[in-house]
Amino acid sequence: MNDAELLERADAIASQAYAPYSKFLVGCAVLTRDGLVFEGVNVENGAYPLGICAEKNGIGTAVTHGYGPGDFEAIAVNASPCGGCRQWLHELGFDRVIFRNGGEVLTLTPAELLPESFEL
Ligand code: THU
Repeated sequence: MNDAELLERADAIASQAYAPYSKFLVGCAVLTRDGLVFEGVNVENGAYPLGICAEKNGIGTAVTHGYGPGDFEAIAVNASPCGGCRQWLHELGFDRVIFRNGGEVLTLTPAELLPESFEL
């Protein structure tokens, strides 16, 4: 699974998003170091702040299956990760983040996305 294929998975799964309020469909694909891919989409809620981002959903699914910090190679997203998701990407220790932003595809590290990030 190369980065372009991972981004294709993110693009494709975005159609499953539940985003009736923003109409902004986000999909992600998480690649583990042992080669599995977990997908996630954003799920919104009528009580707006309760919605969940695609990244948190995909990472949460991977964690549910036994993966944790250091087990992740890459994540692809069809949108630029929000600030909160950047903190998640930092904590889970992804090597790289592939994402679409204004017609561009960028590949950055969590540290580049969120310098001097919070750590307990
Ligand atoms: N969204 C994500 O799923 N991931 C991000 O990193 C950016 C924002 C979602 C949240 C909300 O459902 C919609 O995009 C519009 O903000």
